[in-house]
Amino acid sequence: MRVLVTGAAGFIGSNLVRTLLARGDDVIGVDSLTSYYDPAVKRANVDAFDSPRFRFVEADLADIDTETLLSYDVDAIAHLAGQPGVRGSWGDQFGAYTHANITATQRLLEALKGAPGVRLVYASSSSVYGQAESYPTTEETLPAPHSPYGVTKLAGEHLVHLYRANYGLDTVALRFFTVYGPGQRPDMAFTRFLRAVSAGEPIRVFGDGEQIRDFTFVGDIVAAMIAAMGVAAPLPRVMNLSGGSSVSVNEVLAVIGEITGATVDVRYEPTVQGDVFRTGGSSELARDALGWTPQVSLREGLQRQWDWVRGLG
Ligand code: NAD
Ligand code: UGA
Repeated sequence: MRVLVTGAAGFIGSNLVRTLLARGDDVIGVDSLTSYYDPAVKRANVDAFDSPRFRFVEADLADIDTETLLSYDVDAIAHLAGQPGVRGSWGDQFGAYTHANITATQRLLEALKGAPGVRLVYASSSSVYGQAESYPTTEETLPAPHSPYGVTKLAGEHLVHLYRANYGLDTVALRFFTVYGPGQRPDMAFTRFLRAVSAGEPIRVFGDGEQIRDFTFVGDIVAAMIAAMGVAAPLPRVMNLSGGSSVSVNEVLAVIGEITGATVDVRYEPTVQGDVFRTGGSSELARDALGWTPQVSLREGLQRQWDWVRGLG
């Protein structure tokens, strides 16, 4: 395949590019290297792709003209570019979220009107469900975001759906549930927890640690994205990708203690606005449409992330 990966320098994007290149695919990666976290981390991610089949374009997706995007002549697009992070999306930061998650997505969709045969796989989020009505949450559940971030991811999803309905674009929105593994963003829980253990510092937990997440290993997300780009049959407009390990943050800390052999020093702090109490998705639709089931257990995935934090993998 010839694939355009937006957000190629980020956590999930760089894991996807590495796997695509290893498979023999051609990849064009677009990323504006935003300062949401240290751009040097993102630069290092793309610098590691030493392949003639990889081309990196440093650009803001909202500013690339249609002709340029169409000239890449790709079979599929993995649209991962976005402003992530639930808790930081309040106040003055909101403009960055609307720009990256809504405006940039609309520009990409406008360009795709000229290339209706290209499959677009949009990186949506479990955060569209908010405090979900029921568990395991299915795609039938009415979205009701609980954070400004979730609102912008849902808006992006709606844009994708309406270009599909009006212009016949070949799209699917995949709702990722809290993704972890090697390369995870520095603001996310597991990286923060494991780096704290590595440095002999306390772990900061927001709330009482009883909040539950359906953590999903990044390799499983990458596998689903590749399947979604490659399957010839039309896909449902939206599918959950959840790891199947709905566990509390306190349970995660116990596993971290076992893996690292450290006595985990935990400081409980107030809950942060925007955080939901529980996520837990049904992935039956993805299993039926893509043949996808998550392969990596929480313990194995945490071990791999711990190896990465220690510079071992
Ligand atoms: P990330 O921040 O590591 O990667 C996103 C990348 O997009 C960054 O490298 C950033 O520089 C780039 N970017 C942002 N705005 C851009 C623009 N306008 N033009 C070009 N590039 C731009 O985040 P991630 O965790 O890898 O998340 C990737 C995508 O998956 C995001 O859209 C996020 O909302 C979604 N998602 C992530 C998770 C998760 O748990 N990590 C869960 C659900 C959904
Ligand atoms: C993650 C991503 O950051 C979002 O981009 C994504 O859209 C979302 O998953 C999703 O699934 O839709 P989140 O679930 O908050 O959001 O992921 P983490 O940052 O890994 O946090 C997991 C839990 O740990 C949260 O309850 C959070 O409050 C808690 N946490 C996080 C702490 O207690 N301490 C920390 O230092 C960080």
